[in-house]
Amino acid sequence: MSSAENGTVADTQATQTQNTNRKQPFPQGFLDTISTGWADRPESLPAPREQASYAAARRDAVSKAFPGQRLVVPAGSLKQRSNDTDYPFRAHSAFLHLTGWAEDSEPDSLLVFEPTDDGHDVTLYFRERADRTTSEFYSDATIGEFWIGPRPSLAGVAADLDLATAHIDTFVAGDDDHTVDVDDALTTFVSELRLVKDEFEISEMRNAVEVTRLGFDDVIADLGKAIAHPRGERIVEGVFHQRARSDGNWEGYDTIAASGPHACYLHWTRNDGAVVPGDLILIDAGVEVDSMYTADITRTLPVNGTFSEVQRRVYETVLEAADAAFAAARPGVRFRAVHEAAMAVIARRTAEWGLLPVTAEEALDADKGGQQRRYMVHGTSHHLGIDVHDCAQARREMYYDGILEPGMVFTIEPGLYFQIDDQTVPEEYRGIGVRIEDDILMTEDGPVNLSADIPRTADDVEAWIARLKV
Ligand code: GLY
Ligand code: MN
Ligand code: MN
Repeated sequence: MSSAENGTVADTQATQTQNTNRKQPFPQGFLDTISTGWADRPESLPAPREQASYAAARRDAVSKAFPGQRLVVPAGSLKQRSNDTDYPFRAHSAFLHLTGWAEDSEPDSLLVFEPTDDGHDVTLYFRERADRTTSEFYSDATIGEFWIGPRPSLAGVAADLDLATAHIDTFVAGDDDHTVDVDDALTTFVSELRLVKDEFEISEMRNAVEVTRLGFDDVIADLGKAIAHPRGERIVEGVFHQRARSDGNWEGYDTIAASGPHACYLHWTRNDGAVVPGDLILIDAGVEVDSMYTADITRTLPVNGTFSEVQRRVYETVLEAADAAFAAARPGVRFRAVHEAAMAVIARRTAEWGLLPVTAEEALDADKGGQQRRYMVHGTSHHLGIDVHDCAQARREMYYDGILEPGMVFTIEPGLYFQIDDQTVPEEYRGIGVRIEDDILMTEDGPVNLSADIPRTADDVEAWIARLKV
């Protein structure tokens, strides 16, 4: 029974004051004994993790590009959510990439490149766990092992990442340090370094897509539960989240579970709507695996298992745009050609349907056109990797205007969105939003759709729902 039920108002207020000021002093008997009676922790050092050699090659590239300069790549710090509660920690993407440390990275760590005569000595500074002669392990709720579980040693991390380590307290900042997110040239370089993925990264992207496939299967299996709940979109989000957490680290971004007209809000993450038979539901979701690489997949499903005639017409146009974009993607062409191929289909079809005030050709004019963009305001593609929008600090000439190369991983994600109150479209289109998003690996032989096993044609989507929905 709580004091609110049992006591007076004054009692309750006293309890609340005590609750916010709840630190209890440790009596002498505790202090005299807490540091003793613990078994030794003999440490068997691990073999380097698979990513270690790849991260070493990435550090070499950074070293060569910045001779003679002292470089600092911070992991970043915990961000407070409220009072003594923090958001889950996620290290800076450049730090993840260059260390190979992943979801197990320690907050406040620094990767430091110290210039030498022929390159750099690289050291990872972090706060090693304190031993049991200090109060940290029992009294510090943020980093104490009594509170958050085992924390790493310098030797353990050095072996795991195959990288020199040192205690963060020994780090001394220099006046000429070049720090990621402060130094533009360094920030750009480490972002562009991620444009072409290595073998390790490609295999992790495949893993991320595979777990995401399972998450979509789970969602379809529980579609009935979503329909039955007044906030069915939340059921969809939660079901996907369960797969992301059990088989991966997290989602790579907030899941978009957008049913009916919500599908027309491109980043609908409120997810508090109903899932209604007869509508479509657009689900944009991606699992981030423990190595921190994420998928980014969208599928649009008929809630009752069957597309209506107009829903199918829109769906198949988006699919046609996706396939045209895929056909345009090959090594040596500009990234922007992928978007332009999708746009050509969107312009042609929306013109055919009488939605545009101009011809498709006029709509595709670089200066005067763009009328079709009303129905697809977003881009068709972005790079994908550690970040869902990867390589975000790359220069435009390396990104949108850059040349596609083997090893690049990017999305193809055209859509068509007819807002519920858009008077430029016939009534039957209003409230329909469709996006189809796949994750593409460029190879010497052309593009490979990493998410091809997740059904994407209208017929295959219907069969998928028929097979899995309970
Ligand atoms: N999920 C965000 C995007 O597709 O870019
Ligand atoms: Mn995307
Ligand atoms: Mn997406």
